[in-house]
Amino acid sequence: MNTKSILFVCLGNICRSPMAEAVFQRIVAKNGLSSQFEIDSAGMIAYHKGELPDSRMRFFAEKRGYRLTHRSRPFTSSDFDNFDMIIGMDDQNIAALKDKALTIEEVNKIDRMVDFCRYKQATHIPDPYYGGGQGFENVIELLEDACAGLFLYLQVESHKYFETP
Ligand code: 4NP
Repeated sequence: MNTKSILFVCLGNICRSPMAEAVFQRIVAKNGLSSQFEIDSAGMIAYHKGELPDSRMRFFAEKRGYRLTHRSRPFTSSDFDNFDMIIGMDDQNIAALKDKALTIEEVNKIDRMVDFCRYKQATHIPDPYYGGGQGFENVIELLEDACAGLFLYLQVESHKYFETP
């Protein structure tokens, strides 16, 4: 079975994308498919390099049973080689990723997180960094919806639903 590699990207890699990584990891683990996925996250700026996720993000994540242990790292051009999908949290992330892409194949790896939402309507995953607690809870709710949609998309894409037992 082929491994699918997915990189979640935001600005600082201390709030949204490490949260997305943890939410998607949990969905994959619950479905017994951890060995088939490589999941990571990165930021478009290196300012928080090496840091754990923001303490507020960790607090609200823990309330829902997620433990965030990722260390912030900046996105690098080699991520285009190392990942099948690169998923940005907002249109600034997408634009910055596209700026770094050198080929059509690299551009085609870039997706928008909210495009996988099934129930929530949102144009982006809002940056919670300068806001209050509600913003962090909103991020988790949006990501739970979007990551479930992403997982479903990948299952259908891999024709899993069309295989006979
Ligand atoms: P994130 O949030 O992109 O969801 O990790 C931010 C974290 C830090 C900064 C901006 C956004 N910052 O400017 O330091």
